[in-house]
Amino acid sequence: MSSETAQILVTGGAGYIGSHTCVALIQAGFTPVIVDNFSNSHPLAIARIEAITGIRPQLHECDIADEDAMRQVLRNHEFAAAIHFAGVKAVGRSVSEPLETYRQNVTGSLSLLQSLNEGGITRLIFSSSATVYGGAEQMPISETARVQPTNPYGHSKAMVEQILHDLAAAEPDWGIGVLRYFNPVGAHKSGEIGEDPQGIPDNLFPYVSQVAIGRREKLQVFGNDYNTPDGTGVRDYIHVMDLAEGHVAALQACLQSQGLFAVNLGTGQGSSVLEIIKAFEQTSGQSIPFEIIARRPGDVGTSFADPSKAKELLGFEAQRDLTQMCQDSWNWQQRNPTGYSNH
Ligand code: NAD
Ligand code: WQD
Repeated sequence: MSSETAQILVTGGAGYIGSHTCVALIQAGFTPVIVDNFSNSHPLAIARIEAITGIRPQLHECDIADEDAMRQVLRNHEFAAAIHFAGVKAVGRSVSEPLETYRQNVTGSLSLLQSLNEGGITRLIFSSSATVYGGAEQMPISETARVQPTNPYGHSKAMVEQILHDLAAAEPDWGIGVLRYFNPVGAHKSGEIGEDPQGIPDNLFPYVSQVAIGRREKLQVFGNDYNTPDGTGVRDYIHVMDLAEGHVAALQACLQSQGLFAVNLGTGQGSSVLEIIKAFEQTSGQSIPFEIIARRPGDVGTSFADPSKAKELLGFEAQRDLTQMCQDSWNWQQRNPTGYSNH
């Protein structure tokens, strides 16, 4: 089978990053097959992937930790590789409910790995996070920076990375790509798929979009006393379609190699909260009222990637700029004012 038509298992493929990656996979000629339990996503995302690409990915609605169901899925397909997005990502909840976070992210991943191993699937891309670097001292952050997470969510990602290192060392057949995402934002340019947070958004971009559309009154800016040019937090925002294309590049590398590589997916550019507000106001034409409040506990002042390893190893470089990120977030928000619900 040529890699062009290869079936790829995508856990969490109905979610924010997973749905965009399915689009990028289809556009690169792969055949994604989604496993999702819809614990944090909506089935409509599957129809929307079809609306964009003309191809409806096959879906298995089940939990990655259900080994019987996963065995069944693996028997029904000939997967060339898996991309593993399924898990929980709320940092605050990981602090208040650490056992649930470790169960979902660590036990869930272990269970998936066992199923893959049994099924003879030895190529894997894993969704890690820049959060594994914790409060890194050196900017930009390269992959050689110390892994020192500061919350259970970050630890859960670092633990799975460790498990994958040990697996790759013990089983030379495996080829594993660990992708450490910086701050994914934006949406597919069609406005068909995008980020649909449940309840009050934790993250800056969805919060700003909901203020712009009038769903929330004003943004609270968490601190303006950081050691940054305007005092507000600086992050490396990367367009979710760039991130999705980064997965395709990593998959292609992983299909042709053994061992483990870990790479950052970011742009290398930092933007402050005030810069994001301004950029969003300019692209949306809406004003974003805000107030400065105290720092959010656990936040760092600055975080941005050294993206050079992704370029050297994968030939991947993010293409879309901040204006594009704001335009596409706003387009998604306008076309779907309440996300996927009420459609
Ligand atoms: P998301 O919540 O939108 O997507 C996760 C998907 O997995 C959802 O569709 C959910 O229903 C599904 N899922 C969860 N647990 C499952 C289980 N046990 N079995 C089957 N399906 C399950 O999140 P996202 O933003 O798309 O993130 C995807 C991955 O990337 C996560 O592992 C997350 O930790 C990681 N990540 C996200 C960010 C970010 O800012 N969004 C940053 C770094 C890393
Ligand atoms: C960005 C900036 C805030 C909201 C988090 C997780 C991380 C990763 C991505 C998964 C910061 C400021 C935010 C608001 C604000 N997820 N802000 N008002 O904190 O870099 O990363 O999401 O792996 O693990 O920690 O992203 O979007 O929450 O914040 O002022 O209402 O916006 O202080 O400077 P963060 P974010």
